Amino acid sequence: MTTLCHVDDIAEGKTRGFEVGELKLIALKKNGSIHLYVNRCPHLGLNLEFQPHDFLNYDETFIQCSTHGAMFTLETGECVLGPCKGASLQEIGFTLEDGEIILNEPLPVTIES
Ligand code: FES
Repeated sequence: MTTLCHVDDIAEGKTRGFEVGELKLIALKKNGSIHLYVNRCPHLGLNLEFQPHDFLNYDETFIQCSTHGAMFTLETGECVLGPCKGASLQEIGFTLEDGEIILNEPLPVTIES
């Protein structure tokens, strides 16, 4: 069982990056809901962040890839603009227990970028 963090450890409307073994994750809180994605752009397989924990575009309405600018919706991770339009970030399943984010097993295997 892998506990990522408490929901209160992620600010509303913000992202945080996590590493769980070899797996790099994006955690996002939007309207009180948590979304988890693998930190791997479907275009070239690169990590997305501009700076540590900073995955959002300027007005914080999309997750944006820092390499070529692909834009992903916050709620589904679908790319709506950029070279991988139509592809999606890989979602990670989880459960909440007393506010702790518990990752569903098995975790996905990552491919080195
Ligand atoms: S690697 Fe993300 S848009 Fe190209």
